[in-house]
Amino acid sequence: MKVVRAVADLWGALPQGGVGFVPTMGYLHRGHLALVERARRENPFVVVSIFVNPLQFGPGEDYHRYPRDLSRDWALLEEAGVDLLFAPGVEEIYPRGFATRVQVEGSLTALWEGEVRPGHFQGVATVVARLFLLVRPERAYFGEKDYQQLLVIRKMVKDLGFPLEVVGVPTVREEDGLALSSRNVYLSPETRQKASVLYQALLAMREVALSGGGVAEALEAGERVLEGVPQFRPDYLAIVHPETLLPLSRILPGARGLVAGRFPEVRLIDNLEVYP
Ligand code: PAF
Repeated sequence: MKVVRAVADLWGALPQGGVGFVPTMGYLHRGHLALVERARRENPFVVVSIFVNPLQFGPGEDYHRYPRDLSRDWALLEEAGVDLLFAPGVEEIYPRGFATRVQVEGSLTALWEGEVRPGHFQGVATVVARLFLLVRPERAYFGEKDYQQLLVIRKMVKDLGFPLEVVGVPTVREEDGLALSSRNVYLSPETRQKASVLYQALLAMREVALSGGGVAEALEAGERVLEGVPQFRPDYLAIVHPETLLPLSRILPGARGLVAGRFPEVRLIDNLEVYP
């Protein structure tokens, strides 16, 4: 595996075409490795980037303490058969004076995570656009765990005409249903035991939807599950259209349940298709 730290060295290290790209912020887990595996199956050359992007963290968020372990990630990616690891410093991605931002407007960025974390999706869209222009992939891989992020990136790619396919990869979960996330490392053993409550709430909503219940009934079922864990303070619980993310008034095929909120030591999000 080649490792590149500087933008100037990237050009010479990339093939002419056939690149599958997995952008990450590192501290890799099985969810990231599922993206890499899929990329390896579908592309002759796989690039992974590790870059903790300051632009997507709000004031008071965890940018400085975000977990980082480049040597462990390096070994995992080497073992996974990645061809090139791009691990730039902040000044490589945002050289002094960098002043451009990419903003996807509308409900896709205004609602849910966009409301709780103003500026977050602008930071994500800006860094992903920058990375796409540097790596020039044919396909790029993102986890469905961050479902809203996946839709924002798809929209940016469509609107700006990036010549690539965005591939969404299903969420990888722990045995009790907790979605894998680099931030799970913040969970105390006590909170860890309760952290699958997000998934349990989504399952409760799905069960109601599958047995013919409406949106209000499904949301009530989800809320009841969340209320059983008072340490979890929900930011939102919703059933939304799978493409617009607007709240639904009746259950449609593809309806997506979204949930997010805070435990004392970490904020978690999750989502699930509640009606096929
Ligand atoms: O999902 C992530 O890890 C990040 O938001 C991404 C897409 C790598 C952009 O920094």
